[in-house]
This record gives sequence, C-alpha cells and structure tokens, in this order.
Amino acid sequence: MQRRTFLKNSATGTAGLVSSSVLASCGEMDKSVKALPQEMENVRPIVICTWDFHNASAKAWEVLKDGGSSLDAVEMGVKVEEADIENQTVGVGGRPDRDGKVTLDACIMDKNGNCGAVLCMQNIAHPISVARMVMEETPHVMLAGKGAEQFAMEQGFNKTDLLTEKSKKEWMEWKKTSKYQPIINIENHDTIGMLAIDKNGDLAGACTTSGMAYKLAGRVGDSPIIGAGLFVDNAVGAATATGVGEEVVRTVGSFLIVELMRQGKSPQEACEEGVKRIIEKNRNKLDFQIGFIAINKKGETGGYCIQPGFTYRTFSKAGHVNNPSDSYITS
Ligand code: GLY
Repeated sequence: MQRRTFLKNSATGTAGLVSSSVLASCGEMDKSVKALPQEMENVRPIVICTWDFHNASAKAWEVLKDGGSSLDAVEMGVKVEEADIENQTVGVGGRPDRDGKVTLDACIMDKNGNCGAVLCMQNIAHPISVARMVMEETPHVMLAGKGAEQFAMEQGFNKTDLLTEKSKKEWMEWKKTSKYQPIINIENHDTIGMLAIDKNGDLAGACTTSGMAYKLAGRVGDSPIIGAGLFVDNAVGAATATGVGEEVVRTVGSFLIVELMRQGKSPQEACEEGVKRIIEKNRNKLDFQIGFIAINKKGETGGYCIQPGFTYRTFSKAGHVNNPSDSYITS
C-alpha cells in the first residue's frame, strides 16, 4: 500500500548545507546519499535518548555503527526498554492505570516525515514496532485501544500480559489511598524518546511509554502524539520529550523545538525556549518535570528540563555519555 507523505522531504533545505569541497569530492557517490558539511561527517552516526537508558542507546549505536538506518536504530534501541521488566515506565512491567490495566503509547517518525503511532494499547509488548507497522503498512497515522491491539495481532504480535507482579503489588498498595500525586523524576521518569542520525545523515526518532502511573483509564499523554512527544524534520533536526505529557501537548513541544532550530537556534537554545513556554503557562505551580532533548542536522545536541535530575545519553564516535541536563529550577 502506498504511504501518504505528510511533510515534503526538504531537499532544498539540505542542499543549502552542502559545501563546495564536499561537492567536489562526491565523484561517483551514490546520489541518494546527500553530501553534508565536514563537521557532520565527523559526528555521524549519533544517537541520543532521554534519561540514562544506557542499554537502549548502546543497542541503537550497534545498529548505527554497522551502517544501519536511523529508523532501525531508534526502533531497536527503544525496544530494549520496552522489554525490560525492571523499567516500570515503558513497555512490559509498566505501572498500570488506576484500574490495574497497563496501557502503552508509542510513536515513530522517519526521514521523509512519515509517522505512525499507537495509543492506549494493551497486551502487546512492543508498541514501537506496532507504530512502525502503522506507518509502513497502513494509510493511517494513529491506531488506538482495541483497534491497535487487533492490528498488532493481525500483524503477528503475540498477546503478552504486561502487568508484572511488582507493578501489581505497588498498584494494590496505591489503591489503599488512591492518591494521585506523581513524584518528580520517579513516576515522571517515564518515557524513552530517542533520536538518531545515520551514516547517510538521515534522521529518525521514536518515543514509547506506559504513561503516568495510575492515570484515568483511557488517558493518553504526549508520547504518541507527533509534534508533542516527538518530531523529526530531516532538513532541520529532531526533538523529543519526557515528563508530564499534558503540558507538552499544550505547547506542541517537540514541533516547537524543531521550528526554533529551523529559525536558527541551537538544539540547547531551542530546548530552553521549549521549557520556557511551559513555565510561562504554569508560573504558580511548577511542581512537575518536563525534559526535552534535541539534535540538529549537524549532529549538535541539547537538553533542558524544569526540575534538576534529568539526564540524557549521547552515543557517537566521541563516546557513550550520560549528560546531566541544565534545569530551570536549580535546587
Ligand atoms: N510523557 C509521557 C506521558 O505523559 O504519558
């Protein structure tokens, strides 16, 4: 089935980056591989992700260093966290909603602006792979709830019980008071968002979460919403978010950050401005966490958050680093 293309692949934008020396050296080069400035030749491939998800970034790097695509890298990378039952904020083992059901959200976006998402999906361990199938195998962008689950089963995904004993026990304990009060950097340590540039200089991103612990049934945050939890523009850069999704949705955070980079801001400046927009709307009640990370076409990265405690991983030829993010609130 032919895919709709949502955003035009801005060949003109990329062409603007090509230096004459690189053009001169292109020679017999594959025309589909865009020539890029020297500084980017030095940095790519590269992957970055929210929080200290070192196994996930290592997996993505494995794909990238062997010449794999950024799309495969981000899918394979975040799948590590989806499969980790010790991680109670993503995939299997995620904390349930207030009724005891684990519901997962994920989205993925490629270099051509194609995207796919699943929302509030139960019983399937790898929502990111289902999101990719929505992108590649259907004319749609989002599938939700039972429909997403049905589609996944039709595509050969196995039914999996996502609620582990540990998460079930904690939920039953929570039910005694049913107090909904997310703890900064614990319940909100929620999402893996991952962005990558491959050897061809092409960008992709993925984002996956079990959402806020003990949320209302049916609640969906920013993570599967293209533009909010994730946005990729191959001519400019990409951004992704973690934290209280409602606030990210209100400012269409990731899209905003990519647009700010398009206007000339660095990834760091753009993340800071993205957080500032959220702060402006919440001056009287800044008791939640939001973190953004971003990468531009040159492979420059940035991250910023509201509360101290957020970190993000980068993995490139320069090494595998857990970067502490600057925060708006400093103590
Ligand atoms: N950022 C994840 C969520 O709010 O669901």
